[in-house]
Amino acid sequence: MKNLAKGITKNHAPHIIIVGGTSGIGLALALHHQMLGWQVSVVGSSAVKIADINSLHPAIVTYVCDLTDPNQTQTLLDNLSGIPFQRLIYSAGSYTNERIHHLNQADSDQMLVINLQAFEQVFRWASSQLKQQLKQSCQALDMTKGDRPSLICIASIAGTIDYPYASLYAKSKRAMIATASAYRAALIPYNIQVNCIASGYINTQALRDLNDGDASHKPFIMSTQAAVDHIMQAIDDNIELAIFPRSMRYITSALNYLPKPVLNWILGSKLDKAK
Ligand SMILES: NC(=O)c1ccc[n+]([C@@H]2O[C@H](COP(=O)([O-])OP(=O)(O)OC[C@H]3O[C@@H](n4cnc5c(N)ncnc54)[C@H](OP(=O)(O)O)[C@@H]3O)[C@@H](O)[C@H]2O)c1
Repeated sequence: MKNLAKGITKNHAPHIIIVGGTSGIGLALALHHQMLGWQVSVVGSSAVKIADINSLHPAIVTYVCDLTDPNQTQTLLDNLSGIPFQRLIYSAGSYTNERIHHLNQADSDQMLVINLQAFEQVFRWASSQLKQQLKQSCQALDMTKGDRPSLICIASIAGTIDYPYASLYAKSKRAMIATASAYRAALIPYNIQVNCIASGYINTQALRDLNDGDASHKPFIMSTQAAVDHIMQAIDDNIELAIFPRSMRYITSALNYLPKPVLNWILGSKLDKAK
């Protein structure tokens, strides 16, 4: 793991760590926070993406870490310990066209680690760091709205539908939603905010790559900028589980009202692919 932490506590700008911040939604959120004056750190496994960020956005601090290796993840967290931060976003994710291609062992292992196990490892570390930070600073961090420390995770609308034939992707995102909800309840006494984002399709390179370069046929697909706007609004409004776009939210909540056998029949091959 290469640690390029430079000058991170030089100024008093709030600090955000984005795990999975080297591309897609995570990178868009990183650039948005930078524009708002935050000190930004991003984590990813691709040396190429990190090199691009270092040359295009030199003020962003980059960390190389392969989250599929728990030892690397632990080393990353050890290196980050003691560096104060106010917000952490877990945007790392792994997805494949599971219903089209048979889920092989490698994809299964990767999806479980990145979408669930590393997420829990990071949230567990981040919540204890924030608690420690609060203890150490007598007046704590300023508790006004907006300055409150926060933990955010990017799940998926696929995880909001409860049915047995869901894909591993949908099930791991469902577990992420439930885990975030437990952290939210646990961190209320510390005034630490936890928000989970369950979005529909977002037109990122990763989604396009999965769809032969063009994802525009995906229902209700939104731009990355629209997703950033929704996510920032959900954080500002402290929404426990932000489900968007609205059209997809209506559809999924209607589906959840259906009797389970009907739902299983309708979804047999379809909606769990909604990233
Ligand atoms: N795009 C959508 O339609 C959509 C919809 C709903 C939810 N989501 C969720 O949003 C998140 C971001 O998706 P995206 O479309 O923006 O995809 P993306 O560009 O591939 O972003 C995934 C991020 O996770 C990082 N990552 C992946 N594997 C990693 C590993 N082994 N170790 C460290 N970092 C790793 C990637 O960095 P490296 O490549 O550098 O490793 C990248 O920064 C995912 O959790 C996804 O499930 C996406």
